[in-house]
Amino acid sequence: MHVACPLVADLDAVLRTAAAAAGWADAADFQPEVRAADPRHGDFQANGVLPHAKARRLNPRALAEQLVAALPAELLATCAVTVAGPGFINFTLHPEALLSWLRAHATADQLRAACAGGTAGTWVVDYSSPNTAKQMHVGHLRSAVIGEALCRLLAFSGATVVRDNHLGDWGTQFGKLIYGYKRGADLAALVADPIEELERLYKRGHEATPEGSPELEEARRELVRLQQGDPENVALWRKFSEVSLGAFQRIYDRLGIRFDHHLGESFYNDQVERVYTELTAAGIAEVSAGALVVFHPEHPRFKTQPFLIRKADGASNYASTDLATALYRTEHFGAAGIVIVTDFRQSDHFEQLFLTVGKWFAARGYRRPELHHVTFGAVTGEDGKALKTRSGDVIRLKALLDEAEERAFALVTAKSPELPEAERREIAAAVGVGAVQYADLAQNRSSNYVFSWDKMLSLEGNTAPYLLYAGARIHSIFRRAGVVPADAAALAAADAPSTPAELALARRLIRFPDAIRQARETLRPHLLCLYLFELAGDYSSFNNADKVLVEEPAVRARRLLLCARTMLVLETGLHLLGLRTLRRM
Ligand code: ARG
Repeated sequence: MHVACPLVADLDAVLRTAAAAAGWADAADFQPEVRAADPRHGDFQANGVLPHAKARRLNPRALAEQLVAALPAELLATCAVTVAGPGFINFTLHPEALLSWLRAHATADQLRAACAGGTAGTWVVDYSSPNTAKQMHVGHLRSAVIGEALCRLLAFSGATVVRDNHLGDWGTQFGKLIYGYKRGADLAALVADPIEELERLYKRGHEATPEGSPELEEARRELVRLQQGDPENVALWRKFSEVSLGAFQRIYDRLGIRFDHHLGESFYNDQVERVYTELTAAGIAEVSAGALVVFHPEHPRFKTQPFLIRKADGASNYASTDLATALYRTEHFGAAGIVIVTDFRQSDHFEQLFLTVGKWFAARGYRRPELHHVTFGAVTGEDGKALKTRSGDVIRLKALLDEAEERAFALVTAKSPELPEAERREIAAAVGVGAVQYADLAQNRSSNYVFSWDKMLSLEGNTAPYLLYAGARIHSIFRRAGVVPADAAALAAADAPSTPAELALARRLIRFPDAIRQARETLRPHLLCLYLFELAGDYSSFNNADKVLVEEPAVRARRLLLCARTMLVLETGLHLLGLRTLRRM
């Protein structure tokens, strides 16, 4: 064992070897179950001896003691190992081991190396994916923000990430939109505020085509013309898509999102035929009342609730394009994993989709990629109801981000009135947008999320301003010390952490790879937020207890080393969540 500071994976390997060395009969089946421990018990604990002993009717405590006796001396030089309770094994790293971790993780690349290996191959992440010709509203925020954080987490863990914006650009809305457009587009408005004008035209088209009217028939004919490739309508549709994408991109820019692809529903138009033929040939799909459907006899609900993959009139739908999309992502990108981020109301659709893909791919001899539907709850106001403007309209994402920046500007101005306005504006953009992103990410995505300006912009609590401010404070210590955090020479004299606050902070820092692993395995960014919040808390306790810029060179260096690593971990974590960090605030 040559690890200066053993972490979960190292301990797992050492314990497996020890089981063999101790002469256990079925050592190969031993699962050590190493995880970060409750800090009161140490840094890590192995819980696997208990179930192993229980299954074999052996004494767990005796087995645990055998294991500890078989541990290599190199490991015992880095940590104290004790057997607790009925047979848990606790590991408490020596301060020297903590120091060697701090020394070894000086750059974001070194941190990444410590986190890599969890995920391999190409992962396609399908997120944001709004419908074109409409504004993005606050409901679209969650998919964009959660999806981007997942992309970054997956890439950091070793995956090659493909960011794919699966635009809803082929719906029946285009019939009404073209109808409305041909009867009263305001060309000046279309140039000035294109997406606003498209929405107006759609509304108009919708109002002018009531159910059962000849006008509705005409709108349907416009749609059919578009689908049959009529040049005028296709040109209009292209223009609508372009205009929409331009407006979406302005939002993505503010959120730090860059897609690799915008392969919307329309892209799969000519690929759905293959879906119908193959699923029918494989006996997976059947015709029912004129439509093509898939039943899943093994599923309690989907054995009778059909997955409709082609409408009775022959038209494709959301399911047809999503099936074609799964095939394309597998064949074209060689996806090892596919992650789709939408609200929880689409759960049935994706459950049926994934079941169908599983059978289809098995029939054609493809390995099914790992498929994940990442769901999230609704955004509500503080009254628990859907978030609306005062006049009752949906809140547009652009207006929301503008307001966030305005509010953050007031906050920054109150805190740092001496900074020039341009700088305060820049800081406000990072704080405001960051506050919105972080508030969305910081809680379990499965819950509804209550939108509260006061909470998300507070300098206290699990918020972006609190974490950004903690980072800015560390930058200011380095400015006062007259060294830069990357200056290895300034930190060379550091000795091992020794005060309770130093030790607690160091123990938190070494858990970063574990927090990343948990967030990635569960596809839940709030676990990373929680870790960063706890880190900032430990840093703040350290800062209150131990003065950093003291005279003694070894103490000053070791405290600066802790500051530098806190900053690195904090900033790396915030970047993984999609936030911009600040040197001043
Ligand atoms: N356009 C859809 C919506 O706004 C989301 C698409 C998600 N991706 C997918 N492959 N179905 O609800």
